[in-house]
Amino acid sequence: MRLSCTVLTAVLGLTTFTATAQTPAAATKPNASAAPTHATKSAAKPILAATPPMGWNSWNFFNGRVTDKDIRNAADQLVATGMKDAGYNYVNIDDTWQGDRDADGVLHANSKFPDMKALADYVHSKGLKLGIYSGPGTKTCARFAGSLDHEVQDANLYASWDIDYLKYDLCSFRADVMAAKAPDDKAEQMKLMIAAYDKMGKALAASGRPIVYSLCQYGWDSPWEWAPALGGNLWRTTGDISANWNSVYAIIEEQAGLAKYAGPGHWNDPDMLEVGNGRLTLAENRSHFSMWAMLAAPLLAGNDLPNMKPEVKAILTNKDVIAIDQDKLGKQATRAYADGEVEVWTRSLSGGAKAILVLNAGSDRTANHPFHLDLARLGLHGPLKGKDLWSGKDVTVTNNMPVELVSHDTLLVRIGAAK
Ligand code: GAL
Repeated sequence: MRLSCTVLTAVLGLTTFTATAQTPAAATKPNASAAPTHATKSAAKPILAATPPMGWNSWNFFNGRVTDKDIRNAADQLVATGMKDAGYNYVNIDDTWQGDRDADGVLHANSKFPDMKALADYVHSKGLKLGIYSGPGTKTCARFAGSLDHEVQDANLYASWDIDYLKYDLCSFRADVMAAKAPDDKAEQMKLMIAAYDKMGKALAASGRPIVYSLCQYGWDSPWEWAPALGGNLWRTTGDISANWNSVYAIIEEQAGLAKYAGPGHWNDPDMLEVGNGRLTLAENRSHFSMWAMLAAPLLAGNDLPNMKPEVKAILTNKDVIAIDQDKLGKQATRAYADGEVEVWTRSLSGGAKAILVLNAGSDRTANHPFHLDLARLGLHGPLKGKDLWSGKDVTVTNNMPVELVSHDTLLVRIGAAK
């Protein structure tokens, strides 16, 4: 479902908004007089999510079982494993923390989270930040209380708990409001959805606390075109990820063409990481992580931290790969070309450096194809000196270099200035 910029203009009173050609500050504030009142994100203040957020989220491993203890444990583990030092600083509680609203409409956490402010204090004492989850409908996806008609109250509640990040998940809003108020009128449904995300964006902006705003509505209706103007710092581009290669690769394929919408303060979100989960092989974990870094994606791990295998930790804490993701230019990779099932993606980095990624998405070794990296198709000319970010070795990339990769593995090379 797509909503044209004209409709968006009518919904929000915005002028047509394109993130590409603007500076980050301008990108979150397209028109000073007509834009929604996200004045807190003006050029004077530091940009929230200036690089893609990094951290850990409870959903992929715990689903609905997450408790206060698990969140404290995750914070401890981020520190103990070195993940915090590598940049993972958000600990995000996903769905199922909510209890009931009292007579004044104030939402209380359920018995799994006895004292949210104390939990935030604990997480902050570790030098980390705390994230939380809600949605614009009456219910979240796991059927816990949503924020419908309590947006300002909830935003203020999060601020009073010292929350740093909100993931806002569409879920029951589709049935509660979109289908109920505008049956059979997709354009009107989309207007209602955008208005709901705008309402929470404004409530967060007015809460007095910088809270990263993560839109989760599965990429419907091109959120990359309108979410930044609502104060969105990231927006899901697809449906849910699962811990298997088909899911990871299907998501990768959906990211081509979205690069121009990402930049400091506003990022495409291909969903949280499944590195270390399910049936992913080491090669697949490497490819998943490499691609998310190339895509300037939020790096939100979702694995079992206390039982993390050393080889999984080595992937998640590879500082060279993280530096690609966190590069301050914020230029998401584009797919340069595909040759059968081998794909080549490139990304410009600050200081004139470049990242080149070769992904073997096929089921055979590339040696069987065979595959040669054609630098001319990247607008480059070899030999180029660089570093192989998975072997850690210096490499020279030549014009028609043969690349050997096992099935689903990745070569990731940084050309030019070392980080
Ligand atoms: C889904 C969302 C997941 C998770 C889940 C919780 O809609 O995409 O990431 O948050 O809801 O119920």
